[in-house]
Amino acid sequence: KIVPVLLSGGSGSRLWPLSRELYPKQFLPLCSDRTMLQDTALRVGNAVAFTAPLVVCNQEHRFLVAEQLRQSGIAPRGIVLEPVGRNTAAACAVAALTVAATDPDALLLVLPADHQIRDVAAFHEAIGIAVRAARADRLVTFGIAPTAPETGYGYIRRGGFLEDADGAFEVAAFVEKPTLEVAQGYLAEGGYVWNSGMFLFPAALLLAELERHAPAVVAAGREALEKGAADLDFFRLDTDAFAKAPGISIDYAVMERTGRAAVVPCDIGWTDVGAWSALWDVGAKDEQGNVVVGDVLLDGARDCYVRSDNHLTAVVGLENAVVVVVDDAVLVADRDHAQDVKRIVDKLKAGG
Ligand code: GDD
Ligand code: MG
Repeated sequence: KIVPVLLSGGSGSRLWPLSRELYPKQFLPLCSDRTMLQDTALRVGNAVAFTAPLVVCNQEHRFLVAEQLRQSGIAPRGIVLEPVGRNTAAACAVAALTVAATDPDALLLVLPADHQIRDVAAFHEAIGIAVRAARADRLVTFGIAPTAPETGYGYIRRGGFLEDADGAFEVAAFVEKPTLEVAQGYLAEGGYVWNSGMFLFPAALLLAELERHAPAVVAAGREALEKGAADLDFFRLDTDAFAKAPGISIDYAVMERTGRAAVVPCDIGWTDVGAWSALWDVGAKDEQGNVVVGDVLLDGARDCYVRSDNHLTAVVGLENAVVVVVDDAVLVADRDHAQDVKRIVDKLKAGG
């Protein structure tokens, strides 16, 4: 069976003011009437193929995670609590160490808790291909056909067919977050897919490759587990030990450097719900191209995303705008500048 590992450590700052430090986007019902964490867990809820999920999250969010899983009828295999965020390499390392302790042959399906997947059947089919590649001792990523020179993604140059897994390919090169010029070059050249940020890792191979390319991450993870403590469903990592882990993503730490990567290109209706513009992209639009959520009145608006939870919000004659109203804050932004909302959050954190 496959062990789903749900990464739920992000803060979702580009979805301010809905997403907040204590209540980030993965705990919000942004794409359906379930939260993104619940949708992620339910997508891999089939007990024939998958074990119960292991969640890795910040300790501040432990009750949110436990309660949301309970509401969806999911009993987790465990919830590992990070005292501080140390990025995804450390989160993957503690997950692999935890699972390998009892099941050294396990395959870990690492899933960010903030992605939307509209074709779950195609996703499961891709996982089937990935399992064959992982069994042939590969670190497998799921590749998405790129539609724009996004600089926030990893780019994978597809190599030759993998003998052992029809539908999987060698990774000829993996470049995390290239510059705009480089990304434009990749699109023009062709043969590249985006890294979806979802992975299928044989636990033992992941640990071996981490040990080789980022040993300090594994050492800190191991010590944090040894000195940590179980507490009901939770496992608390030791604070001082975990803080020693370098804050590096799995993409930079392993995927760019390993010789054992494979990619399964797939068409699964994938979206990284990173910013308000992504919610406009995937939302149901009216005839003028507006996506509206909540108590909203429009007149002459075009291609806008408007969301208002508790206040009647009217938008007149605006184009290409994002308007989000919550009880204590209002965001008005150009849709093409949706990524820059993060800078507002940085300013707020720095004290306004
Ligand atoms: N538990 C835990 N701890 N989870 C974390 C941490 C952490 O310290 N940091 C990030 N995460 C979670 C986030 O919540 C998110 O679900 C996932 O790990 C990926 O982190 P992001 O910070 O969103 O990464 P990214 O979007 O910049 O880049 C990754 O995803 C892209 C696709 O969306 C990379 O894998 C790229 O290569 C990829 O293209
Ligand atoms: Mg992301």
